[in-house]
Amino acid sequence: MTGREPRHVPVLFEETMDFLRIRPDGVYADCTLGLGGHAEGILRRLGPKGKLIGFDRDPEALELATARLNRVKEELGGQAAEVRLIDEAFSTIAGHVEPGTLDGLLADFGASSLHFDEARRGFSFMADARLDMRMDTRSGPTAEQVVNEMDERELANLIYEYGEERRSRTVARAIVRGRPVTTTGQLARIVASAVPPSKYIHPATRTFQALRIYVNRELEEIKALLEAAPRLLKPSARLAVISFHSLEDRIAKDSLRDGARSGIWKIITKKPVTAGEEEVRINPRSRSAKLRVAEKTGTRD
Ligand SMILES: C[S@@+](CC[C@H](N)C(=O)[O-])C[C@H]1O[C@@H](n2cnc3c(N)ncnc32)[C@H](O)[C@@H]1O
Repeated sequence: MTGREPRHVPVLFEETMDFLRIRPDGVYADCTLGLGGHAEGILRRLGPKGKLIGFDRDPEALELATARLNRVKEELGGQAAEVRLIDEAFSTIAGHVEPGTLDGLLADFGASSLHFDEARRGFSFMADARLDMRMDTRSGPTAEQVVNEMDERELANLIYEYGEERRSRTVARAIVRGRPVTTTGQLARIVASAVPPSKYIHPATRTFQALRIYVNRELEEIKALLEAAPRLLKPSARLAVISFHSLEDRIAKDSLRDGARSGIWKIITKKPVTAGEEEVRINPRSRSAKLRVAEKTGTRD
């Protein structure tokens, strides 16, 4: 960690809090604590009978979120809700939460500023560091292993599927020729030499996204969470999910639509909620955020 505490501005914060309709005595799960921005918002809306359950599979994020939430608990004293934090992937949620006990569930998918801004985590092509990209640094493989060990065809498919990179074959060929590839800077240069420059994005953006999604099994994780969620929520409890790219959003959209068709969900956001101009100005990362909310069907006794 650098001396400076990393900052992550929570996206669509007010909208998320409003849609979750937090009841002071309710039980809420924040599946992606990150630096704890949304979790702090939930905690501050809960009373002493409420409970917040938080997940993050990144031990560093969990440590920072724990410190932040402890400060809030201290400030709230006897009025603070119970907080339980779990350092595991959110796909394991059904093993930690009893069926039908949640009043709300939030997931703000993807990587956080901690990942992009801390060069040594190896997520960013803006800085040079060992190619890592693992959120959970306790288990592999790293992006370095993937780019050096995967065969060219498989690598091209991965870059196409998870990066939506049309020139995936050219990129994969350049990577294989450039092996061993050990740093983010080296990979960014190899990709930049293989794809034409764009006015809008760095040429390595799509390849880095693809590797990150693959290394962290991000799409499988989202599917598993969305499959588990309906069983964990009480009737009329809400699910709020924030996605940052079309692959994530498609999974959320399809899952909620299928659930609505089979009577599990009532969709609350017919269209995804996006950030307003002011939020995008303050926090450019919010530009691609999409919030979808659904309510579990049924009524409470
Ligand atoms: C976009 S950030 C969340 C930011 C947070 N809402 C805030 O206000 O600071 C996503 C976080 O979720 C974590 N994460 C991503 N996928 C995960 C998964 N499958 N299981 C557990 N944590 C995950 C990442 O490590 C990261 O810290």
